[in-house]
Amino acid sequence: MGYANEDLTISKSNSWQMFDAISPRYDLLNHLLSFGLDISWRRQLVRFLSDKRGSGRVRSLLDLATGTADVLLTLVRGNPHIEEAIGLDLADRMLALGRAKIIQARLQHKITLSHGDANHIHFEANTFDAVTIAFGIRNVTDHSQVLREMHRVLKEGGLALVLEFSLPRQTVWRVLHLFYLRTLVPAIGGILSGHPQAYRYLSQTIETFPYGDDFCALMGLCGFRNAKAYPLAGGIATIYVGEKGQ
Ligand SMILES: C[S@@+](CC[C@H](N)C(=O)[O-])C[C@H]1O[C@@H](n2cnc3c(N)ncnc32)[C@H](O)[C@@H]1O
Repeated sequence: MGYANEDLTISKSNSWQMFDAISPRYDLLNHLLSFGLDISWRRQLVRFLSDKRGSGRVRSLLDLATGTADVLLTLVRGNPHIEEAIGLDLADRMLALGRAKIIQARLQHKITLSHGDANHIHFEANTFDAVTIAFGIRNVTDHSQVLREMHRVLKEGGLALVLEFSLPRQTVWRVLHLFYLRTLVPAIGGILSGHPQAYRYLSQTIETFPYGDDFCALMGLCGFRNAKAYPLAGGIATIYVGEKGQ
């Protein structure tokens, strides 16, 4: 793929700074570059949360790398059982935009955002019914570390949901998608955000992320049982589901 691992590692450990820089255009570019699909992908998370089997309804929720809070807003609007939802991110400007949206939606009594690192979650073990991360785990250097942290803070029987970009298996769709990622995404994203390197980083991290069965295997190694992958839009994105328990 032609990308030095060292470069990727450096940009990943500082990726929150890049997200702070592009924050004013982040939501717009998300919707534009995914043709609005990102909205429906986040909505799919609601279904997985509502389908939760075993220990009952989700009342407490933690969303890692929460950004501008779109996942939390979607999940809280879509699931009346959630009483407390917390979002963590390292990018304070992304969080500020998220807080404004939460106030506008009058959901301050349910949703709180705070500065926090997905690699070292500042909550005790066995705290949440569900932990989510959308388009976030791709941006950390050690995916296992974040998965282990998600597992630690989940209650027994709790549910982990990971929404992340992936690559289509079908050859023609894959070639077309890679062309889009490598050419149009950096061009359009670069012009509209003023940060072309941020959108080159997007395609680099997508191409090097372990998706599908590989990611399910990683979830298993990090303690999750019944880890399953649900590809979306022919494999452009995938929802991974795993449970904490025996
Ligand atoms: C692509 S955005 C996803 C935001 C949001 N989840 C969404 O669905 O739009 C990735 C986010 O991960 C955050 N991030 C990167 N590394 C992080 C870390 N170690 N801990 C917490 N957040 C992190 C960035 O600041 C950024 O807001």
